[in-house]
Amino acid sequence: MGARDGFALAGAGAQFPGVKLDPIQAASAAQFDRRSHRYGKGHILEQTADIEGALRHVELPAGARALDVATGGGHTGLLLAVRGYRVTLGDISTNMLTRAAALAAERGLKVETREFAAEAMPFGEGEFDLVTCRVAPHHFSDARGFVREVARVLKRGGSFLLIDGSIEDGKPEAEAWLHNVEKWRDPSHHRLWSQRTWETWCAESGLAVKSSELQPMLQPDLEWYFETAATSPENRAKVLEAVRTAPEEARALLRISEAADGKISWWWQRLVLVAQKG
Ligand SMILES: C[S@@+](CC[C@H](N)C(=O)[O-])C[C@H]1O[C@@H](n2cnc3c(N)ncnc32)[C@H](O)[C@@H]1O
Repeated sequence: MGARDGFALAGAGAQFPGVKLDPIQAASAAQFDRRSHRYGKGHILEQTADIEGALRHVELPAGARALDVATGGGHTGLLLAVRGYRVTLGDISTNMLTRAAALAAERGLKVETREFAAEAMPFGEGEFDLVTCRVAPHHFSDARGFVREVARVLKRGGSFLLIDGSIEDGKPEAEAWLHNVEKWRDPSHHRLWSQRTWETWCAESGLAVKSSELQPMLQPDLEWYFETAATSPENRAKVLEAVRTAPEEARALLRISEAADGKISWWWQRLVLVAQKG
């Protein structure tokens, strides 16, 4: 057995013995443990203009305590550490956390790491001034429960910064197309949620939305994207066929295109949302 013995959570398990991963969480943990080497330097997520832009809507006290949930390669959490905040990096994947910690050490940044599932955080009420989560909730088995957890661990006046792929309401063909493609490419993909759904979940958890915007984000090269997830040959073929036969709604919304050099790209709609606990 590995660090996650029988899929018990190592970090959370220390505090909540017996916590088990559900099948969706287990699929993510396994996928990202296998592919952690792809998410560090050189990954498109290393570009942090989206986070820097969103942080303009967030006021934090000096030395604020920040939690970066599903930290992956650590790009969001380390940006916060550079700004002098006391940062905890959390993830469900042991290998992701090990690599993020190594990157922090290499850059001379002090951070804490904790292994846990976003749906059940091993923290008390009101511990953090800021919770961030970027390009990860589409893997969560219970994104709504995750928002409840964010509200619980935030201090009053604390902020939640969410960045994730999203999809417009009322575009069922584009949504189905993107869902299938993402699931074939990486079976640990669970689902995307609309801007309105995220805003509703924030409101019901006592988080007042301060800003919320869909921004385009380029998926620049389908081959690179396949390599990142180690997509199986059968599933690559399914995705390529889906690109070839994409319905007009998906083509128009996602701007699917094939360049002269053969690179297939499209534009996700990425939700950037900041909310504050009242
Ligand atoms: C694409 S990476 C995140 C990128 C990162 N946030 C950044 O800004 O660069 C997705 C991460 O979500 C993590 N993850 C997936 N499901 C999770 C869950 N239920 N709880 C916590 N982490 C999860 C994966 O292990 C992976 O490290």
